[in-house]
Amino acid sequence: MLQKNIVWHTTEITKADRQKLNKHKSCALWFTGYSGSGKSTLANELDFQLYSLGKKSYVLDGDNVRHGLNKELGFSQKDRVENIRRVGEVAKLFVDSGQIVMTAFISPYRKDREQIRQIFGQDEFIEVFIDCPFEICEMRDPKGLYQKARKGEIKDFTGIDSPYEPPINPELTINTEQHSARDAARYIIKYLKDKGIL
Ligand code: PPS
Repeated sequence: MLQKNIVWHTTEITKADRQKLNKHKSCALWFTGYSGSGKSTLANELDFQLYSLGKKSYVLDGDNVRHGLNKELGFSQKDRVENIRRVGEVAKLFVDSGQIVMTAFISPYRKDREQIRQIFGQDEFIEVFIDCPFEICEMRDPKGLYQKARKGEIKDFTGIDSPYEPPINPELTINTEQHSARDAARYIIKYLKDKGIL
């Protein structure tokens, strides 16, 4: 719904000015994958490597954002859609501020991810599929949530009684069963350099 009586303000300092100051372009790296696939681990390793190179980056993580901004949202389809919509808008603000933002959310619905892609400019949205077989994610079970879901103690758990739709044509696919977070982060940095973002 478009708000009445609300007028968009343009700012004196533009995104291009901020990118110039930072000496790199800005973009959103959108990590998607099952719980336990390694989204947060990789996003944090990449953040560390970017920081070490003097780049402006930040991680938006599902568990953390659900503590604050999205704390009233659960895991029904409706709530997940709203969760991802808000995160998309926040990620866009980070890109407008000239930074490289990594989002680590399951973001299970293809349509939602595609809608978010539409709010970004050309080459600003990079979908990163964290491709780890479901059985491995369940075996890892770092928070013991799969076990709880199997016992029926958690409803609507992704991959058990809630769907996950993998990307069809992501910019990047990382198999976290075969590659360490360190190597995967280096690979993404090379991609960012090749694309002229860094
Ligand atoms: S979503 O689908 O994008 O809205 O989910 P997200 O905001 O990324 O939150 C996922 C983390 O919440 C924990 N958790 C669950 N995940 C999936 N399904 C259910 N029902 C659920 N309940 C709690 C879980 O720790 C997820 O963290 P990650 O980092 O993905 O393992």
